[in-house]
Amino acid sequence: MKAAIGIGLIGCGRAGRIHGRCFGGRISGARLVAAADPDGNAAQRAAHDFGADNWYTDFRRLINDRAVDAVVVVTPTNFHREIVVAAAAAGKHVLCEKPMALGVDECREMIEATNRARVKLQIGFMRRFDAGFCAAKQAIENGEIGEVVLVKSLSHGPSVPQRWMYDIAASNGPLAEVSSHDIDTLRWFSGSEITEVYALAGNYRCPEARSEFPDFYDNVVVSARLKNGSQGVIEGAVSVSYGYDARAEVLGTKGVLFVGGLAERPLTVCSASLQVQQPIVKSWRTLFSDAYEAEDASFIEAIREDRPPEVSGIDGLRAVEVVNAGNRSIREARPISLAATTEVDV
Ligand SMILES: NC(=O)c1ccc[n+]([C@@H]2O[C@H](COP(=O)([O-])OP(=O)(O)OC[C@H]3O[C@@H](n4cnc5c(N)ncnc54)[C@H](O)[C@@H]3O)[C@@H](O)[C@H]2O)c1
Repeated sequence: MKAAIGIGLIGCGRAGRIHGRCFGGRISGARLVAAADPDGNAAQRAAHDFGADNWYTDFRRLINDRAVDAVVVVTPTNFHREIVVAAAAAGKHVLCEKPMALGVDECREMIEATNRARVKLQIGFMRRFDAGFCAAKQAIENGEIGEVVLVKSLSHGPSVPQRWMYDIAASNGPLAEVSSHDIDTLRWFSGSEITEVYALAGNYRCPEARSEFPDFYDNVVVSARLKNGSQGVIEGAVSVSYGYDARAEVLGTKGVLFVGGLAERPLTVCSASLQVQQPIVKSWRTLFSDAYEAEDASFIEAIREDRPPEVSGIDGLRAVEVVNAGNRSIREARPISLAATTEVDV
């Protein structure tokens, strides 16, 4: 095994630059060697900022770069399948951002391609590496709240959606882009699979999208039934303006636990204005910066130790399956059962 595993970054936008920063010097045993983005300025800037030798505007050239042993795929979701399948065929290990893809068939193809090439495939559910979420999982496994009865998970983001997200048919919408993490949290904390969902959605804060994209929603609530009998609730929102909000609550037969909070720092100021003030977390970039680093370190360990990654392609596929069932539930205004699709043969 090489002293430093060569990493190629594919997609140098918001999330790409987070992985670039990690692999540009924070992850032992790995080094960013190349960056690719059709926007040459973005690729060149990432290569420069994070110490990569090469940059490309075509991801295929990065995949064929002999210094690249593994790729991190951080492009818009609709490109994930093509890039992951090509990277696997070239013998490169893959860390692919969530949502894994738009459809379950694409996920299957990605899993099959990486299995065939005997390379690792990890999906970017970084909350599984966050200290608070990991402590919650440990408390659940230790039986501290008894049997899990209900998992509630919410993600509210401040950003106004990028235009491509308005078309639900093309993007799978906020359920995919935002709530994928919450779907994974329900599965992870309950230790079970989601078998039925009922979703309600509406557009409350994005009037600019209403006439051209009447299906677009900026707020979604999902009730879920799990295979082991437990229950789940997911709440997703974009364009919330007040900050970044990611919290979970788990109710058990003998207790309850809460993960996350709105405060950016453990600081509360009470002043003569008779106001209680706390600085709010502004972005997922800061809230989960340690989790991204731990996620990237774990990917490298999986390669070095030749063990399965901690978050698998099946985890990615399950989330996509629930996203699609949720969007169907919104369209058809009824609960959707996933029972028929829960057996995965890959
Ligand atoms: N884990 C998380 O919390 C998290 C957070 C944000 C985004 N994401 C995911 O990361 C992915 C990217 O999101 P983003 O917010 O960084 O988007 P972004 O629009 O900021 O960046 C995407 C970049 O990919 C580039 N790109 C487009 N097509 C490409 C191709 N064929 N090859 C290489 N590069 C290409 C674009 O030019 C752009 O620079 C999405 O799947 C998103 O859901 C995950």
